[in-house]
Amino acid sequence: MQCSWKAVILLALASIAIQYTAIRTLTSKPFQLCPVPSPQNCGLLGGPETESPMEGRAGCDDYPYFSFNTSRKTHIMVLATTRSGSSFVGQLLNQHADIFYLFEPLYHVQTTLIPRLSHSRNAADRRVMLGASRDLLRSLYGCDLYFLESYIKPAPANHTTDKLFRRGASRALCSQPVCDAFRPTDANVEEGDCVKKCAALNMTLAADACREKRHVAIKVVRVPEIGDLRALVEDPRLNIKVIQLVRDPRGILSSRIETFRDTYRLWRIWRATGRRPYNLDLSQLTVVCEDFLGSVSTGLSHPHWLKGKYMLVRYEDLSRNPLLKTMEIYDFLGLPMDKSVEEWIQTNTRGSTELSAKHKYGTVRDSAANAESWRLKLSYDMVEYTQATCQKVLHQLGYKAVKSAEELKNMSLSLVQDKIFVPFL
Ligand SMILES: *[C@@H]1O[C@H](CO)[C@@H](O)[C@H](O)[C@H]1NC(C)=O
Ligand SMILES: *[C@@H]1O[C@H](CO)[C@@H](O)[C@H](O)[C@H]1NC(C)=O
Ligand SMILES: *[C@@H]1O[C@H](CO)[C@@H](O)[C@H](O)[C@H]1NC(C)=O
Ligand SMILES: *[C@@H]1O[C@H](CO)[C@@H](O)[C@H](O)[C@H]1NC(C)=O
Repeated sequence: MQCSWKAVILLALASIAIQYTAIRTLTSKPFQLCPVPSPQNCGLLGGPETESPMEGRAGCDDYPYFSFNTSRKTHIMVLATTRSGSSFVGQLLNQHADIFYLFEPLYHVQTTLIPRLSHSRNAADRRVMLGASRDLLRSLYGCDLYFLESYIKPAPANHTTDKLFRRGASRALCSQPVCDAFRPTDANVEEGDCVKKCAALNMTLAADACREKRHVAIKVVRVPEIGDLRALVEDPRLNIKVIQLVRDPRGILSSRIETFRDTYRLWRIWRATGRRPYNLDLSQLTVVCEDFLGSVSTGLSHPHWLKGKYMLVRYEDLSRNPLLKTMEIYDFLGLPMDKSVEEWIQTNTRGSTELSAKHKYGTVRDSAANAESWRLKLSYDMVEYTQATCQKVLHQLGYKAVKSAEELKNMSLSLVQDKIFVPFL
């Protein structure tokens, strides 16, 4: 009896590995990578006027993603965690006319490979999930959306699916030629409307739309640390720029308690009763802080492989001064910020907080005050506990600890210290 749970875990692990191997085998094409582009082994990459990715690419034309002049394409990654404001940052990119945006495609990897152990911190699980994630991201940055199909359930038939996670969050997937339901003049199609009115997603068209755009941005909340992305960042075929979004862990905790009501049920009990349930899953908090600490320590230590490729953004700074911060982000990306991004910021940051409740994962329509509203929602002992657990990372990111309940609830005193994180250029 005693070892049966171990057997279960072993079985689960074995099946994950087998499933992943199967997926890799079935879709092995993207893995037979062409050699790294260079004038010697693959002919010259097309000049700026070469529009067709296939032109003059003898030897590599089976692998469309490889055929781009990659130095022109920017592969943007928003590295975040749930309830840290990543939907908001995603929108800042999604609104740009030259960017193809995908909302958390790794959702499909997780639900396929580790459906039950969704919060697994098991090292082997993590390795498989990360390996699969990196492969998928690499393919997606090359606009190979067929590769994602191996993870979508039920499996798409004829490259068509209505199960792509949060399809409606991607502007390109809700507009022509991918979807004919709206006119180009229909600005800001609501996510739900897109899902309702667009026909099932034709992945061929979606991939074409991706290739049409100059840049690709992907939001990711299922990669723990920046260090896990090193292989991608260093991949010479890609041109990755990582925007790491962090938020006060106390704010994340509070927001998750409101949003993921089942998963964080025991935290709500703690808040309501003032007593910490003995079976509370503390890893729901510690993981956030450990991952932030690992990531931020790596990022701020400026390793050579991150040079020019890493920017740390605090959610609180973004909500205090969205326009300015967004300009900084576009500066870092080396892209001009377009009018539609600016307009989107204007309409979505006027502090209309009641709108934020509309969608569970919806873009946070936040004001500066809202970024610290967790202080009125968490109890002091929960805050105290979080501060003790996350002490290092709070300090590192410039979030002030409070020493009393009075201080916690005194909103005229901000807990966000001024701190400038200069991108590593
Ligand atoms: C790729 O495009 C850029 C600008 O469009 C150009 O400067 C560069 O030379 C091209 N790279 C190659 C290898 O052709
Ligand atoms: C896929 O396409 C084939 C050929 O066009 C057709 O026979 C088949 O019914 C389609 N399958 C689905 C599920 O639509
Ligand atoms: C998807 O779009 C492609 C390209 O336009 C088209 O050839 C294909 O028939 C479409 N697939 C379906 C199932 O409609
Ligand atoms: C709140 O903090 C401010 C600034 O430190 C202080 O002046 C004020 O007295 C505090 N208010 C209360 C009710 O403690």
